[in-house]
Amino acid sequence: MLEIRRKIMVAVDGSAVSDKAVYEAVWLAGSQADKLKNELLAVFVKTDRMRDYDDLFVRGISAKEVNERWEKIIEHAFFVVRKLAAERGIALETIVVEGEPASAIVDLARVHDIDLLVIGSTGKGAVKRAFLGSVSAEVVENAGCGVYVVRA
Ligand SMILES: Nc1ncnc2c1ncn2[C@@H]1O[C@H](COP(=O)(O)OP(=O)(O)OP(=O)(O)O)[C@@H](O)[C@H]1O
Ligand SMILES: [Mg+2]
Repeated sequence: MLEIRRKIMVAVDGSAVSDKAVYEAVWLAGSQADKLKNELLAVFVKTDRMRDYDDLFVRGISAKEVNERWEKIIEHAFFVVRKLAAERGIALETIVVEGEPASAIVDLARVHDIDLLVIGSTGKGAVKRAFLGSVSAEVVENAGCGVYVVRA
């Protein structure tokens, strides 16, 4: 029998839209799970773009405090994917890297030989756009695999 295993990567930034992307990614990874062993990876990119995580960039806080705040943000960002993957019995790998989100996501997808990337159309950014945020636009443009953009 033809066996098709998929490696699916979902990009999370802690926004409600990325949680929607997580629901879709978990659903895809979990479909026909008894026959297929799909793999799910979730990635969070630590970015210094101030508007995304502005409570991090408060004047006068210590490096230790910044680290603690990052830990909280990352826990929150992975919360839904951890919960849903556990409920569906899907093996999950979580990855945290530092850098520019779009290029980091594209690079990681290549390194991990991902079949399908799942991202939200928009995310934490405050600017309202017609459809795509800057990260999703750049990922769609540059990814070496298929990209499933989950609409806000
Ligand atoms: N730092 C990040 N780490 C992982 N995934 C991210 C990150 N930032 C964005 N993403 C992914 O990209 C999707 C779209 O977010 P994007 O940043 O493009 O939109 P936005 O925040 O509304 O706009 P912008 O950041 O351009 O102001 C998110 O739903 C998430 O899936
Ligand atoms: Mg953003």
